[in-house]
Amino acid sequence: MLMAHHGSDLIRHLAQPVGLALAGCLYVLSVASAPWTASAAEDPPGAVSPPLSPAAAQARMAELRAEIAYHDELYFRKAAPVISDFAYDRLKRELADLGQAWPAPAPEDAAAAAIGDDRSGRFPVYRHRERMLSLSKSYSESELRAFDARLSRQLGRDDLEYVVEPKFDGIAISVTYENGKLVRAVTRGDGVDGDDVTANALTIATLPRTLKVSAAGSAPALIELRGEIYLGYAEFARINRERTSEGEEPFAHPRNLAAGTLKSVDPRDAARRRLEIVFYGCGGCEPATARPAAQTALLDQLRSWGLPTIVTPRVVRGADRMWLAVGEIGRERGRYGFPTDGAVVKLNAVAAQRRLGATTQAPLWAMAYKFAPERVATRLRAITVQVGRTGVLTPVAELEPVRLGGTTVARASLFNREEIVRRDIRLGDWVYVEKSGEIIPAIAGVDLTRRTPAAVPYVFPAVCPACQGPLVQLAGEVAERCPDLNCPAQVRRRLEHFASAAGVDVPGLGPVLVDRLVAHQLVKTPADLYRLRRDDLRQIGSGMEASADRLLAAIERSKRAELGRFINGLGIPQVGVVSSRNLARHFGSLAALAQVQPADLLENHRPLVSGLGEKASLAVLAYFVRPENQAVVADLLRLGINPKVASDQESVRPLSGRIFVLTGTLPHLTRAEAVKNITAAGGKVAPVVSRETDYVVRGEGAGEKLTDARTRGIRVIDEAELLALLAID
Ligand code: IVH
Repeated sequence: MLMAHHGSDLIRHLAQPVGLALAGCLYVLSVASAPWTASAAEDPPGAVSPPLSPAAAQARMAELRAEIAYHDELYFRKAAPVISDFAYDRLKRELADLGQAWPAPAPEDAAAAAIGDDRSGRFPVYRHRERMLSLSKSYSESELRAFDARLSRQLGRDDLEYVVEPKFDGIAISVTYENGKLVRAVTRGDGVDGDDVTANALTIATLPRTLKVSAAGSAPALIELRGEIYLGYAEFARINRERTSEGEEPFAHPRNLAAGTLKSVDPRDAARRRLEIVFYGCGGCEPATARPAAQTALLDQLRSWGLPTIVTPRVVRGADRMWLAVGEIGRERGRYGFPTDGAVVKLNAVAAQRRLGATTQAPLWAMAYKFAPERVATRLRAITVQVGRTGVLTPVAELEPVRLGGTTVARASLFNREEIVRRDIRLGDWVYVEKSGEIIPAIAGVDLTRRTPAAVPYVFPAVCPACQGPLVQLAGEVAERCPDLNCPAQVRRRLEHFASAAGVDVPGLGPVLVDRLVAHQLVKTPADLYRLRRDDLRQIGSGMEASADRLLAAIERSKRAELGRFINGLGIPQVGVVSSRNLARHFGSLAALAQVQPADLLENHRPLVSGLGEKASLAVLAYFVRPENQAVVADLLRLGINPKVASDQESVRPLSGRIFVLTGTLPHLTRAEAVKNITAAGGKVAPVVSRETDYVVRGEGAGEKLTDARTRGIRVIDEAELLALLAID
């Protein structure tokens, strides 16, 4: 009975989305000096350029409202937007502008004015003592100067004092302390009522439970402190690496991931990701006299209470200096370890703030300045479709290579078939490519003014581009999949994953060699790798003579990789580095894991394997239920490969004995942080590449060490792969 029950559970779960798998090579950000035909950054067409007829204006407004509602749904309810914030803001601005030029029959445009609503219905709601407002936004110097001019006029004086702060790109939060004790953390919600996410917020290590109060002072009876919960870039990269190793699509933006994490129903899920918090404001306060009289005083107070706050606020007088301070933040923000999307200018004196007041949406004494994401226009040459390790098809834009944010971009994500149709992206179109804090370049829009009749709609393949087999779409999933495990693309991706640094680690066995081995039908499963002989390698073409022995030696060495790496290398969906290591510790051998009975796994083992969720357990069962996967394990055992669990010492120090060389600048970790992390995990960092080197970690502007590593066949990894190896859980 029990079996039957779990069996049907298993089938139900298998029919559900198991996440999108991405081929490891989806996003090409080549730093090479690819020939680049000059294509200077261009501004997209202005908001309302050609004069519109009243009917056309109303039609455009209806279109914009629908578009905004669609993105609101994705952003607020699903935390999975498909356009950048900047592009979204532009839609809202266009609607607001049109609303002004063509006052609609409806008095106010709700969609343009709305503050949004992040409530999910999964948490108790709590009413803020003082409304939680949003900020008015500006996009140009003249708008900021107009803001200063308005304030000067209303307050009757020039040279107003402003505090200029970075605008953190996370999720707004209000944390209430009563007599110095944290009692509640609530999201903005609709500004009046928000979700009570206290349990999740308490997983944030840097959020103090009590305020530090000096012997002489005391904390207010009640204070609502306003701030932002966010994910730092390094943690974001670590999570994404873990996720791709689970065969799932990486998250596109740290803000959405922070929002999703904060809204986890189980606080243990929130605890697995290192959210951070920063405070910059104050809501309700009792007694009211305890409220600091200036923004600078508030920031000082927050600091002395031991709360994380804005580290380098700029305090300036007048519009000129204010604009300079905004520019400074714009230049510095590339070096921040947290995502920012702008600067916030706040009038310093609270008394003056009060005189100015607020609208229903935003205070009149503060203004956000949004930095334009770097964007360039380029031609969409083609759309290719990648087949991932678990068969998911992902369309990729093949672009005329173009410089963007210090790298050459030749490809960008196109999400899925539906997105291409919805955004009417055609082959041959001029498209805007954007990198706005997001790590992955995305198509921000199409320049319709440059569309020619030659631009043709893209026809999504009706069959798998790799094996020509039929495609399937699982219930509730937008992605199309190739269901055939023997599809050569999936076979290749699985082998690459098995041999990767987070798998059994066979340096030199990258995509090119895997392609050749699969094309020559020499290898299909991980076990086949261990049957390779020198003569086989000779067959596959020139250039192998010199490297064959080195490759065979690396394959031989990989037999001694610890069990967790073998399990991870199998590529079980939902099971990444950390779960693999925990499964290894618990089961102790491949055979024990492969033979576990469904009921036994779910009832008896699962509670004992740290962090193994229901989805992952079901994925393990689904994997080993298939005879072809059982055959791989049996084959490995027959070949005498019986990986062992790492000793405690090794698992605490996962990089024990490994030697690293760093080259170039890493996107998020400083060199010192990278060295500290590697040594803490038991590894060593050497200054030069030698025969002993295990990994070369490549950053932007990597030099000779990279070439050296490649000629010696040493494994080259990027920062995300390094973070995965460190696999902090
Ligand atoms: S002050 C009443 N300061 O940006 C004004 N907000 O787009 C309260 N944000 O809702 C906001 N960094 O969630 C302020 N240094 C900063 C900020 C900041 C990020 C967020 C905040 C706000 C949103 C508006």
